[in-house]
Amino acid sequence: MPPLNPSLIDTGSPPIPQIQAWGQGYDGWHGPLLNLCQAVPAYPPPPAMLARLAEAAGSAEAAAYGPIQGDAALREAYAAHLRSLYGGDCAAGQVAITAGCNQAYFVAMMALARRGEAVLLPTPWYFNHAMTLDMLGIEARALPCDAASGFLPDPDRAEALLDGGVRAIVLVTPNNPTGAIYPAALIERFQSLCQRRGIWLVLDETYRDFLPPGREQPHALPAGGWPENLIQLTSFSKSFAIPGHRLGALAAPEALLPELGKVMDCVQICANRPAQAAVAWGIEALAGWRAAKRAEMAERAEAMRAVFDRLPGWRLEALGAYFAYVRHPFGVTSAWEVARTMAAGHGLMALPGPAFAGEEAHLRIAFANIDLATIRALEPRLRRVAEEAASPAGRESRAQRPPALPAAGYGRSPAAPDAHRGP
Ligand SMILES: Cc1ncc(COP(=O)(O)O)c(C=O)c1O
Repeated sequence: MPPLNPSLIDTGSPPIPQIQAWGQGYDGWHGPLLNLCQAVPAYPPPPAMLARLAEAAGSAEAAAYGPIQGDAALREAYAAHLRSLYGGDCAAGQVAITAGCNQAYFVAMMALARRGEAVLLPTPWYFNHAMTLDMLGIEARALPCDAASGFLPDPDRAEALLDGGVRAIVLVTPNNPTGAIYPAALIERFQSLCQRRGIWLVLDETYRDFLPPGREQPHALPAGGWPENLIQLTSFSKSFAIPGHRLGALAAPEALLPELGKVMDCVQICANRPAQAAVAWGIEALAGWRAAKRAEMAERAEAMRAVFDRLPGWRLEALGAYFAYVRHPFGVTSAWEVARTMAAGHGLMALPGPAFAGEEAHLRIAFANIDLATIRALEPRLRRVAEEAASPAGRESRAQRPPALPAAGYGRSPAAPDAHRGP
């Protein structure tokens, strides 16, 4: 094969397929295989949304190319939604509709930085954010966050990492992978820092609709007029339970939109038009449904907290939106190996901290995928992971043995992929 782009070769692979492959080897001994590694809603969109999608998909109009920046109805509806949420100014001309939030991020990064420059990402980071930068030849500069500070990034520490090459700081709140919810005052400090240093602040608020009830307003940054250095990203995948329809959005200073449009025209031409029509309707019409899902997710989060309160050895270190970020009880054992044993031997597919450039001690458990009863059933299953690791004999007594694992239960896995590079 002729040579490929070395920046792409050097980019790590997405970790979820690896965990799912290990899960395929699970023998069902401990109960059903649970997908705790992917942030997807376990429920379908409401019937009225499906009907709108079907109706729009059946129209000749939605089969045609649409405007690069998105259909006017959705741009208007989303701008109005941002105004009502943040209490500030946002015009439809500041909104671009993308094929999902991942694409919104890709478009933003292509616009803000070039090969050899850098973007600051708090770690643990969302792996696709780092992968995008890697493949574009932009340095993903790590801003480490830890459990002691609730995985909140420190603006002073961030400032110390800024040099002339850093073009932007990216914050994800509520966070993936930790679930940490950044206080409005912290987001505003980052905004001031970025403004003072003449760089961009990019806020990925994919999980904004899953802030706990009573905390609906994430911050009020645009209240005094949209800051000249702010790009806000969102996803309709989780909020409307339509990840397969690939729809997201970004809001930015209006002057940036023509530049973003150049990238968007090359990578998407226009976003999925039936989904644009359905979401334009759903932003208002499904506000009640989304509030109910917000409450449901908060209930699941509390159920996760209760499970980890009772589990010896395991420690819940952060919780929010779709995610529990936990410390496993297996000491210095590689988190990839823990994840492999959990998936292949126990049917619990979770992602290890190093997949996010995080610590070996951590696992991310995405609980949006499982209902309350299944969350409660996690307790005995996680207990058994620890028991079997402590007593390989217990594992041997199973009628069907799990896939071959190192005798001690945990060790360096030859199959563990090259974890996405860490700081
Ligand atoms: C922080 C974050 N940003 C973006 C995305 C991608 O969302 P979309 O499906 O809209 O591309 C995800 C999905 O998991 C995410 O967690």
